[in-house]
Amino acid sequence: MGNQLQGGHGLPLLFGVMGDPISQTKSPAMHSAALAAAGLTGTYVPLHVRPEQLEDAIKGIVALGYRGVNITVPHKVDVMKYVDVIDEAAKQIGAVNTIVNEGGLLTGYNTDGIGYIRSLKEEAVPDLSGKHVLVIGCGGAARGIVYALLKEKPGSVVIANRTAAKAQELADEWAHLGPISACGAGELERVLQEGHIDIVINTTSVGMYPNMGELPIPAELLSPHMVVSDLIYNPLKTELLVRAESIGCRIHNGLGMFVYQGAYAFEYWTGRPAPVEAMRAAVLSSLQ
Ligand code: ATR
Repeated sequence: MGNQLQGGHGLPLLFGVMGDPISQTKSPAMHSAALAAAGLTGTYVPLHVRPEQLEDAIKGIVALGYRGVNITVPHKVDVMKYVDVIDEAAKQIGAVNTIVNEGGLLTGYNTDGIGYIRSLKEEAVPDLSGKHVLVIGCGGAARGIVYALLKEKPGSVVIANRTAAKAQELADEWAHLGPISACGAGELERVLQEGHIDIVINTTSVGMYPNMGELPIPAELLSPHMVVSDLIYNPLKTELLVRAESIGCRIHNGLGMFVYQGAYAFEYWTGRPAPVEAMRAAVLSSLQ
């Protein structure tokens, strides 16, 4: 990939992010900073794509010569119908957030889960092997994270969900991938007190702006030895993280997940190491 870094005929490389809505996205700020820091001539734009136009928009990637795009809400599942190849992890997770255009062949990847795990390892827990992890929620975000987490050989992964049956379905689906189980809200207390949990990860939107006072689990169930991680990055410190920090837990927020999912996408598109710190700085300044 490294020697194909131009859009053809000296044109800039083209990138974008497709979603609906899309005006709130921080990806253009982050990737523009990445391209500049890497010394590449390119442009990354927000693309407002409504669901009924998704198929045409994906064809447009090839027609317009885009090198790659990110896919965000609500298209991550539906887009799988329109790409040529789906990476194995994205297939298992059931969602694509990154497309690479290799000479007209579109390949779909999921960088959310691996992005989160890279962030967790670099910023909070360098070695996840043998760790006991509680994951709260089992939607699309949780699927990416749990899939990537199981590759790290954890001691156990317990998925807790408001709708317990959904957590059980996921645990059954991926039982062959590692030590995974499910629990309902009523079993949380037992799991957190007896399950030797090292890491708690909130994947739900509970606590996200503007509902910032809400907690996905009762804070009394946390212990100081736990690392508490929240996928949310607006606010940077959710009520869960505030409460966890106040009892002495190490905390980790969702900013790194956003940065590293973008870093993996950048690396797939360009074949170059992503300038992660420039990307993080750009996101932070766009949040202010
Ligand atoms: P995402 O792609 O962000 O993961 P999703 O697929 O809609 O979004 O999944 C949201 C997850 O957060 C689900 O596990 C959901 O629980 P249910 O399966 O019971 O719906 C969980 N969730 C969302 N809002 C919640 C709330 N207020 N309390 C508890 N769990 C919540």
